[in-house]
Amino acid sequence: MDSLEGLFSVRGHRALVTGASSGLGVDCAHALALAGADVALVARREDRVKTLADELTRKYRVRAVGVGADVSRESDIERAFADCVGALGGEIDILVNNAGVSPTGRAENFKRELWENAVAVNLTAPMLLSQRVARALIAANKPGRIINMASIYAAVASSVYRLSAYAATKAGLANLTRQLAVEWAPHGILVNAIAPGWIPTEATEGGIAKPGNKERMQQFTPLGRLGRPEEIRGAVVFLASPASSYITGAILAVDGGYTSW
Ligand SMILES: NC(=O)c1ccc[n+]([C@@H]2O[C@H](COP(=O)([O-])OP(=O)(O)OC[C@H]3O[C@@H](n4cnc5c(N)ncnc54)[C@H](OP(=O)(O)O)[C@@H]3O)[C@@H](O)[C@H]2O)c1
Repeated sequence: MDSLEGLFSVRGHRALVTGASSGLGVDCAHALALAGADVALVARREDRVKTLADELTRKYRVRAVGVGADVSRESDIERAFADCVGALGGEIDILVNNAGVSPTGRAENFKRELWENAVAVNLTAPMLLSQRVARALIAANKPGRIINMASIYAAVASSVYRLSAYAATKAGLANLTRQLAVEWAPHGILVNAIAPGWIPTEATEGGIAKPGNKERMQQFTPLGRLGRPEEIRGAVVFLASPASSYITGAILAVDGGYTSW
């Protein structure tokens, strides 16, 4: 590894990114394609992931495919995973479990449907996809990377929002990351998480726009500002590339220092 390319390249690898129809997932997809990976993009808004796949192919000259799927349904996961493997021509060896939902509501009245959907999307889908990726890699005796999109609210509670389902599922995802890292280390499958702070996306822009919220979030952030979606790119490439070959079970904060004080 005596070149920058050698440290950070993922050329020759096949990545699957969930939730690549908007927000951070789009930046994860750009980052991995820029670093040379072929990419499969999954979300319910099929038109968006197909359009992004075309853009990535043109821009970075990688193979890219967009597949429509609702990851809260195991049958969709099964079909989408098979389609991604088929389109990219072999085992997925980089998985980014990024799709997520963040329903809000007072804990004492929190709607069960919202709770169950958050568990399905934020926690069960990452497990089901990780299992599929790991089974194929273990059978082929190949190494791989799994990157889970956690949150600052995996570690701390929110004083701005009522986020019981989100906080619980992201904390679950963070410790699932550690458990899978331990179980799959002997197979060379490294499992890590990214824990972003406040970054404007479709999921967060409504909340950020409410009077006083942006100022409050900035005040809680040592760097004094919200993140930008593209600031997730470096962390994704790092955790997917040879640069992080001795890192597994880690939760990498990309939060402007939010969880440091
Ligand atoms: N932005 C932040 O401040 C922040 C902070 C910490 C963590 N995060 C995490 O980052 C991840 C991305 O969030 P974002 O901020 O980029 O929000 P976003 O723009 O709303 O993106 C969420 C993505 O998840 C997908 N998704 C949701 N439900 C799905 C389902 N049932 N099946 C398939 N895909 C589904 C959406 O695609 P479709 O609607 O097309 O299905 C979309 O692509 C989430 O896990 C979130 O918790 C974000």
